[in-house]
Amino acid sequence: MEFTIKTGSPAKLATGAIIVGRHADGKSVDSAYAALDAACGGKLERIASRGDLDERAGSLLVIPDLEGCAAERVVVVSLGKSADFGDKAWRDAVSAAAKWLANGPARSAAVSLAAVVPPGRDAAWAMLHGARLLADATYRYEATRSKNGDKPRGAASVALLTPGKATAALRTAADRGAAIAAGMALTKELGNLPANICTPTYLAETAQGLGREYKFKVDVLERKDMEKLGMNALLAVARGSHQPPKLIVMHYKGGKTKDKPVVLVGKGITFDTGGISLKPAAEMDEMKFDMCGAASVLGTFKAIAAMQLPINVVGIIPTTENMPGGGATKPGDVVTSMSGQTIEILNTDAEGRLVLCDALTYAERFEPAAVIDIATLTGAVIIALGKVPSGLMANDDALADELLACGQRAGDRAWRLPIWDDYQEQLKSNFADMGNIGGRAAGSITAACFLARFTKAYKWAHLDIAGTAWVSGDAKGATGRPVPLLTEFLIGRAQG
Ligand code: BES
Ligand code: MN
Ligand code: ZN
Repeated sequence: MEFTIKTGSPAKLATGAIIVGRHADGKSVDSAYAALDAACGGKLERIASRGDLDERAGSLLVIPDLEGCAAERVVVVSLGKSADFGDKAWRDAVSAAAKWLANGPARSAAVSLAAVVPPGRDAAWAMLHGARLLADATYRYEATRSKNGDKPRGAASVALLTPGKATAALRTAADRGAAIAAGMALTKELGNLPANICTPTYLAETAQGLGREYKFKVDVLERKDMEKLGMNALLAVARGSHQPPKLIVMHYKGGKTKDKPVVLVGKGITFDTGGISLKPAAEMDEMKFDMCGAASVLGTFKAIAAMQLPINVVGIIPTTENMPGGGATKPGDVVTSMSGQTIEILNTDAEGRLVLCDALTYAERFEPAAVIDIATLTGAVIIALGKVPSGLMANDDALADELLACGQRAGDRAWRLPIWDDYQEQLKSNFADMGNIGGRAAGSITAACFLARFTKAYKWAHLDIAGTAWVSGDAKGATGRPVPLLTEFLIGRAQG
């Protein structure tokens, strides 16, 4: 989807569809809506106000060939009641428009994005997140369908309308929105690909491809390299698999040489059977999504590289399958992690923390400004928070607050859970420094408390995305989360 930014008179725009907003009570309407209504002699408001447009934010009314308007269709989107107008109503409205545009008959369109902005937000915010929502709605999974390439659908070029000047800042915002959507598309695609295609090797090749395309350095550590480093926790997970494990390290250097990097660490279990602690059969296919943390790091790198963000970021992806092979790790096995701490692997299905702990120790060498790990770590986070926010745990309050605010701004929320020392005793082992499970109580927290033992050297936050990285059921598929949150965070850090 190509974006341009346009100002000027909406009624004269010759385009497939022009999309404008209207509050359910008719108050404080979009200036582009008002201009179209004036051009057609008030017909638009007559139709909308008599109930043809549902009040709910995101309801649509499509009017073809409205007199006085050059566009083939005028699409009015309800913004809900003006008293209730906020980020959510705005996003519901833009998402509905985006869905219609991605699948509808118009091949070109104009969208009034910046005229009605929620309280506390500005036109640049609307451009960035609006462009992102519009472009993101065009993603379709096709890789493993035999009937590919149905006729091109939806709008290929979209003019983003602003009532003010088409400033360079708005142009940058729209470009960033498009870059974030492209990053999310990569994250979704990798998540959706089946595990027989999306292997650790495939993830490594994807990282190398990004490095070539955007000119950043990518190192791929092989099993023997990891053995030398003493990454025995990570390697313990890989033992049952025929696929070679990889530790992918990406170096994006957009900032000054002396600037400490933000390090992103993504869990890359390309399939999680549970290992010898085998998972039940129902919905096990969804464990192909157990690399969505890794995919979100790759998608975030694609986005920040495309926008040439002035910041240094290191991406670390420990990736392997978790399989029950003859060589597989057995419950009760004890390994020495790269940090020197020993771990009794009581449950081989708690493998995410094992690959992450060695990656987190490896992260120390980059003297990070902050480390954020992203992982589909625990089913328990879905019990605690459902599928609305990602779970956030951190050893630094300022970093946690920063991430929570970025999630709000980006419409990709997280919610914090505590990782008090009180929980640490649940990880006691009779045979090692710690066990890798903490019992049924507070499963997401004890998983994070395990990781906290490996992150004492820096400011660290952990995002448990088990509930947010994909949706189940009829619409089964990866969501691209938390790329919006992570890119928002990095954009903020690049400015700060
Ligand atoms: N990848 C899973 C977490 C998961 C489960 C994500 C279901 C989404 C849906 C993780 O590796 C895992 O198996 N965690 C265990 C931990 C337990 C053994 C302590 C879990 O959540 O059951
Ligand atoms: Mn598991
Ligand atoms: Zn897992």
